[in-house]
Amino acid sequence: MNAVPPPNAKWLAALAAALPEDVLLTADEDLARYSRDWSGDHFGRPLAVARPRSTDEVSALMRCCYREGIPVVPQGGLTGLVGAAVAAIHGGEVVVSLERMNKVRSISAVDFAMVVEAGCILEDAKNRAEAEDCLLPITFGAQGSCRIGGNVATNAGGFNVLRYGMTRDLVLGLEVVLADGRIWNGLKMLRKDNRGYDLKQLFIGSEGTLGIITAAALKLFPRPTQVETALVGLRSVEDAMALYARARRECSDLLTAFELILRVGIDIALHARDDLKDPLGDVYPVYVLIEASAGGRVDLASILQDFLAGADDLVMDGVVAASRAQAEKLWLLRETMVEAQGRGGRYLRTDVSVPISGLADFVTDALSSLEKSHPEALAVTYGHVGDGNVHLNIVPPEGMGPEAVVALFHETEKVIFEALDRSGGSISAEHGIGRVKQKAFLDRIDEVSLDLFGRIKDALDPSHILSDGRIMASRPGSGYR
Ligand code: FAD
Ligand code: LAC
Ligand code: ZN
Repeated sequence: MNAVPPPNAKWLAALAAALPEDVLLTADEDLARYSRDWSGDHFGRPLAVARPRSTDEVSALMRCCYREGIPVVPQGGLTGLVGAAVAAIHGGEVVVSLERMNKVRSISAVDFAMVVEAGCILEDAKNRAEAEDCLLPITFGAQGSCRIGGNVATNAGGFNVLRYGMTRDLVLGLEVVLADGRIWNGLKMLRKDNRGYDLKQLFIGSEGTLGIITAAALKLFPRPTQVETALVGLRSVEDAMALYARARRECSDLLTAFELILRVGIDIALHARDDLKDPLGDVYPVYVLIEASAGGRVDLASILQDFLAGADDLVMDGVVAASRAQAEKLWLLRETMVEAQGRGGRYLRTDVSVPISGLADFVTDALSSLEKSHPEALAVTYGHVGDGNVHLNIVPPEGMGPEAVVALFHETEKVIFEALDRSGGSISAEHGIGRVKQKAFLDRIDEVSLDLFGRIKDALDPSHILSDGRIMASRPGSGYR
């Protein structure tokens, strides 16, 4: 497929002439760190890695790439789960790492907003907001490594979406370097602005295919002064969803997380860490990690206690964290389960969504179909069910050979997606399409949407130099790809 080698020397010379000396890395030992993602499933061979320090340097880089037709892949913290941020294996793509553009440019507790450069690590941005008594509510396991540009480019979700929305709901404005090197300055702090098309929306969730995000203006919220965390054991996913419907109303809509974990996930976490204990007195098929947050004069502890006491028809047992340390221990179960689920090997990840009302039926349908078709596979089910989003992952049996594993992933994904199609769901609720989900995405997209996707891509990146082959297939005859 990549029979024609890229004109490396010519491209490298053009880049070296366009950029200050210390922006470009080309030595193999320097490139390694930018060549493999968190999952370890995807690796590439960048032609070079550019590490610009400013928007002007990104612009100079893109002007050169546009003129020469050099393919480019923007890269954040490499925690994306669909193989989109690593360079192609043919060695013809330049990785643009935003890691040196990591400043918080401004923050205002009056505007409840901050302007952050794309390379800022999410946790650093969250800590900076906290120092102003504010909350940047994007929250998930990879927050210590992922970067704001990656969060915007993937429209990241996470634990707090049910209260604060996806990253898209938190973006007030963006600064983006376009494929031709022009800088689009859309860094507004305005809460309301109806001047025509909302261009920033195009770049949010575009996975690096439409422009390089260099900075984002993000919404902040008052930092909650009270956080209550509980873990409850339940009979079924159906009961979990009934509990959710009740919890929103009875906890005054103060929920900030409602995370489902089927028992197998708890077993995985307990097996992985000796310092974790089975959280309840008995074993239950289904667990929900509930978090509620509030500021001001609300008595949050009583609200949650009263709610749980009144839900004894659904809740078999539960624990409410008595301290921040206990709450963190409960969250550690969730985090450990995610990290340990593959037993150090590959596993199939899905991140599907259905309407909240259909989630229990979808999980029952998918799990019983998998049990019939592939009883040897371990299905690990957890997720942000307050958003109708579940991760239904497949761990192969120990000792299965690599080819059989690939076949297992292919077949089980098909079973899961068929159940999803029956429920009218989405194959990607939060991780995006990238390269991994491309076939499943293109198999399902309608003709009109596909046409519009193509026109948007052609308008913003006419020679397809940006993240070619992610989301959409590579353009036929596009040279070295
Ligand atoms: P990268 O992986 O570097 O890149 C991701 C994509 O964004 C690529 O297409 C890349 O080209 C593009 N990109 C990166 N920076 C830019 C830029 N400046 N301009 C344009 N395009 C850019 N995701 C969720 O939504 N919810 C979760 O709960 C969640 N939990 C996770 C837990 C773990 C343990 C891990 C490893 C991942 C999790 N993720 C989750 C996935 C991942 O963390 C997010 O997708 C995150 O937003 C990716 O950010 P990143 O900086 O690592 O991006
Ligand atoms: C999570 C990631 C995998 O929910 O999306 O942990
Ligand atoms: Zn998730």
